[in-house]
Amino acid sequence: MKPPNRKAIEPRPFPLIGNLSRYAFNPLAEAIRARKRHGRVVRYWIRTPARTVVAWLITSPDHAEQLLVERHRSYRKADTYESLRWALGDGMLTAEGELWRRQRRIATPAFGRDRLREMLPVAVRHTAALADRLANAPRTADLHREANALALLVLCETIFSTAIADQTARIGEHLEHMIKHAVDRIRIPIPLLHELPLPANRRARRARSSMNALVEGMVTEAERTGFSGNDLISLFMAATDPESGERMSRTQLRDEVLTFLAAGHETTANGLSFTLDLLARHPEWQERAVAEIQAVVGTGPLTFEQLPQLDLLRRIIDESMRLFPPAWSVERTALEEDHFDGHRVAPGDMVMLSIWATHRNEEHWPDPDRFDPDRFLPANSAGRHRMAFLPFGLGPRMCIGKHFALFELQAMLATLLPRLHFASVSNAPLHLDPLVTLRPRHGVPLRITPRATAQAAT
Ligand code: HEM
Repeated sequence: MKPPNRKAIEPRPFPLIGNLSRYAFNPLAEAIRARKRHGRVVRYWIRTPARTVVAWLITSPDHAEQLLVERHRSYRKADTYESLRWALGDGMLTAEGELWRRQRRIATPAFGRDRLREMLPVAVRHTAALADRLANAPRTADLHREANALALLVLCETIFSTAIADQTARIGEHLEHMIKHAVDRIRIPIPLLHELPLPANRRARRARSSMNALVEGMVTEAERTGFSGNDLISLFMAATDPESGERMSRTQLRDEVLTFLAAGHETTANGLSFTLDLLARHPEWQERAVAEIQAVVGTGPLTFEQLPQLDLLRRIIDESMRLFPPAWSVERTALEEDHFDGHRVAPGDMVMLSIWATHRNEEHWPDPDRFDPDRFLPANSAGRHRMAFLPFGLGPRMCIGKHFALFELQAMLATLLPRLHFASVSNAPLHLDPLVTLRPRHGVPLRITPRATAQAAT
């Protein structure tokens, strides 16, 4: 068989450096454009001082399945995660092999069903306090900012059993500087540049030291108050190595807490803000969601058993994460040879799965840019490839916080929507910032009216 034509699947390179910068600086539009122009597998490359790095872009569900499930043993997390290691150390997101397996095993009980049940009142209490604050001062607010603070509060109090109410702004700011710096390290892979005493580099290093100190404080506090059961810090602190019997090192513990803080709050916050933005732009869906919540929850407090009955709300969340997947890309480096549609991936090559473009693949999602939660009705999902929707990734490295995040999003929306009406302040599309997570670049400003007032006015 004739080998596939390599040139046909390569966007035009810039002289000397290659074509990867076309993707690196504009990965959302480029992934869609490249699939239309070059097909299901697109080859990028970049010449660095050390070597030429080849990076394959894939955007279809069967290729996602091959990468993350069928052939996952042929890959490791890509070098792009190295720069995350600069920020977060060697936590579960970046760890490999035996260390990863062990940490994942230890952390799993922190996300069990009973834990989720215990967390519900915490998520509802903090969201209700936010709703009170917004209702008492009707105005335009940046919901993205509010969602970040809320998600951080809930995460710390549930997963870590640590109240950090007075520190959310600082934590958010530190993580922001650290993540921005980590992304710069990916986009401009010249390590020396990032070590120079430039203001941005200094700011990022300061943020990292402050975060390390803050997390150390959380760990010390947990040690002082003793183990409290199934929260994450207690589980990590109590775990012993099966061979040596030793406890986890202080550095490892700190890296894990940092990793869970970073991985667990911004993703959920982005999910919440994108969903609220979509509901503000589609008031008919907002009203349908409110009607469902009122019918299921009534006037009483939301209970764990009611969550699965909020079926429409769940479809809205899914559709929001299809259109705006908070984790928009996952990357791997090949440990051994593999093939996608006959194209040879060599050991050391990178494979970039664009969740963003997979979720907007017309073959599986007709009219892909349209917001339509009914795509997720069972009748409309029949026959769809099971990997066509993968906001939490797939395979063994799938998100450990998936159920926590979904449950939290449902709880937050079920608390906010019956109390507040959200309206757009502009019809312009949101500007998106695909950093480690997909974010709204200028926040999500929405006009907020208490529902009682909104109803009285109509
Ligand atoms: C809407 C919210 C969230 C989304 C969209 C999301 C998405 C993802 C994705 C796509 C991955 C796989 C990355 C890969 O394969 O390279 C992942 C991994 C991970 N997520 Fe999430 N996540 C969310 C919430 C959370 C929460 C709430 C937590 C913790 C409290 C969390 C902790 C983690 C961790 C620790 C990993 C690494 C798992 C491993 O490698 O074994 N995530 N997440």
